[in-house]
Amino acid sequence: MNEHNLYHPVSIGSVTVSGNVFLAPLAGYTDVPFRSLCIESGADMTFTEMVSAEGLSREGEKTLELMTRAKNEKDYAIQLFMGNIDPVAKALACLIPYKPTFIDINCGCPVPKVTKTGAGSIMMKNPKLITDIVRLITDTTTIPVSVKFRTGWDANSENFIEFAQAALDGGASMLTLHARTRAQGYAPFAKWEKLTELKEYCLKHHQNVPVFGSGDLFTAQDAKRMLEETGIDGVMFARGAIGNPFIFEQAKALLTGKEMPGISLEKRVQTIIKHLDLMIDHYGEKSACTQMRKHTCSYLKGIPNTGAVKQAVVQATKRETYLSALEMLGAGC
Ligand SMILES: Cc1cc2nc3c(=O)[nH]c(=O)nc-3n(C[C@H](O)[C@H](O)[C@H](O)COP(=O)(O)O)c2cc1C
Repeated sequence: MNEHNLYHPVSIGSVTVSGNVFLAPLAGYTDVPFRSLCIESGADMTFTEMVSAEGLSREGEKTLELMTRAKNEKDYAIQLFMGNIDPVAKALACLIPYKPTFIDINCGCPVPKVTKTGAGSIMMKNPKLITDIVRLITDTTTIPVSVKFRTGWDANSENFIEFAQAALDGGASMLTLHARTRAQGYAPFAKWEKLTELKEYCLKHHQNVPVFGSGDLFTAQDAKRMLEETGIDGVMFARGAIGNPFIFEQAKALLTGKEMPGISLEKRVQTIIKHLDLMIDHYGEKSACTQMRKHTCSYLKGIPNTGAVKQAVVQATKRETYLSALEMLGAGC
């Protein structure tokens, strides 16, 4: 494959998305402001943070808010998690008016608080359940369904092919494999060869189903390498996009044979300010300043002599104080 066709549109059931460089769902990060920035930087598809089907079925205010679409978000996917099929019908009734491009089911979360309810990665122990859930959604709506899962619960139970088939039996239109077991958590290294295996399986049995890859995508070069080495259809940036929404424009440049844009300190600081302002619009000033701490520290990660700025921003509760702290960087913004 030459590098010019590594970047391409993707058909997911009845819908076509303009490109194959996605922002992964990230609880605590992929809210409206962050998704908006990633779209501006070129993300072709964004996912909400994971939304509890149980919470939706009870029409919980906070749960409903997670499905808000950003102003510049033409396409987005809503990710649901559930430990059983009971809340799904009611959850769909709340979700359908939001008209997501597709619905994604979380079968990868390793957090005990989630798995002990039967949701997230523990669903991999029960492939029949994913068939039933996907079938219920595809029987109820015309919205395509995708499933995001791991290679298995642990090294002794890597059942991702069987699980993928179970999702497809229910009518799933797209698969995303995070190439680690639940037991691996987020530790290095993701096993990209499992992506090759899944893609080869789909090529044999389900040619129209796109396979996306997740795991250890920290640079634009990683995305290119994953696409080249595994033959999958698209990539999802996760931790690689935190404090680094620029990764989308860089990846798309690299994948289309253009020069990769560099990121100056000035651009970085301007993006922090833009991010802060989007957060203020969405959450109000005080909450925005508090929530921006983790983002700002990520934006400044690896940049020398930023200790004092980080210390100042973690105490800031007003936009003005935030901006004064950032001025210490001398980036001329
Ligand atoms: C803080 C954090 C939150 C995450 N939240 C979700 C989530 O809500 N839904 C999901 O499917 N995956 C979630 N993930 C997993 C990522 O989408 C991705 O699959 C994983 O981080 C592997 O990619 P990476 O190694 O490139 O970061 C999360 C990961 C992190 C680090």
